[in-house]
Amino acid sequence: MTIPEIESKYTSGLYVKRPLAIVRGSGAHLWDDTGKEYIDCVGGQGAANVGHANLAVAEAIAEQARTLISLTEIFYNDQRAAMEEKLVTISPNHANRVFLCNSGAEAIEAAIKFSRFATGRTGIVAMMRSFHGRTMGALSATWNPKYREPFMPLVPDFSFTPYENLDKAREAITDKTAGVLVEVVQGEGGVHPGSREFLLGLQQICRERGAMLIVDEIQTGFGRTGKMFASEHYGLDADFVAVAKSIAGGLPMGAVLIGERVKKLEPMIHGSTFGGNPLACAAGVAAIGFIEKENLAGRAAELGAYMMGRLQRIESPMIREVRGLGLMIGVELKQKVTPYLMALMERGVLALPAGLNVLRLLPPLVIEKSDLDVVAEQIEQVLQEE
Ligand SMILES: Cc1ncc(COP(=O)(O)O)c(C=O)c1O
Repeated sequence: MTIPEIESKYTSGLYVKRPLAIVRGSGAHLWDDTGKEYIDCVGGQGAANVGHANLAVAEAIAEQARTLISLTEIFYNDQRAAMEEKLVTISPNHANRVFLCNSGAEAIEAAIKFSRFATGRTGIVAMMRSFHGRTMGALSATWNPKYREPFMPLVPDFSFTPYENLDKAREAITDKTAGVLVEVVQGEGGVHPGSREFLLGLQQICRERGAMLIVDEIQTGFGRTGKMFASEHYGLDADFVAVAKSIAGGLPMGAVLIGERVKKLEPMIHGSTFGGNPLACAAGVAAIGFIEKENLAGRAAELGAYMMGRLQRIESPMIREVRGLGLMIGVELKQKVTPYLMALMERGVLALPAGLNVLRLLPPLVIEKSDLDVVAEQIEQVLQEE
């Protein structure tokens, strides 16, 4: 049986898969089981900022795997200490503590619980078009009815307010609001960068009403948008910053960066067996070190501006808008995006959707300019073919 046949037989069936078995990667390139090479603009859905098979991360993992893989947080550990210190040092939000977990959804769950605990309130206000994950709390803060409706009733006291509308936010955020959840650039919702006015305004309203501001930097973090964190573009100083995806070079890990204004969290209110395990922490220290040493944030800013310019110059009646921040780029089409993703795949370019009609590019930040040129040319060509 082929790899797709075996997987199709045994997989949960939850994923809409592309007919491709990827078996190897290097930098911004992937190879399938027949040896065909692809330029990767999926980037592990944002988890591969440092590039595939990154040597610094691979060596740190191998070394740590031979030393100690598993250790819960009832003990201290050298790699965890280094990772916690690193995250606090680079945090965009005056964080002085971190909670370590294993995924983006887990980071959101933790931030929701911490907000409730810190305020003694229950309300969570999230944004329309938001995506925060698939566990019950994170799902309760996720906008798309397709993800939510099969699982009703969700967690109570969640509400939604339109992105970029401060008047509505002022109505939605009350003295019952524990936390307000927002992405700096909405990712799955269609690659919509927030404005300085909206994000700082939201922060101001949260401060006035005593609500915690939870910024979801799960997709925008670790260099993606041209800064280590997208919050830095605006001087946003959240109470909680949720991070994951590229935090540990592609190994599963998440974290909540806890702002200094947040009151002390009590022992046992939350926890995780794998959270802060030495293997993920060693990978994280190596990955963040690589992002800093290679200035991947600067690279994302430069290459992102270049690529956005190239895409904006494409003259096609199919394109409604090209937008983004750094190397988080969306091309909104007037049509459904799936056929174009398939056509790009045939031509050796892997890309993502964001919603039904946005073509999303999240390449590893190590991608070469020449690869981006190929991607832009191929996008232009597949749009012309239709
Ligand atoms: C902005 C944002 N928040 C949360 C999540 C959920 O992360 P995970 O899939 O690691 O649970 C994602 C994943 O795509 C995301 O893009």
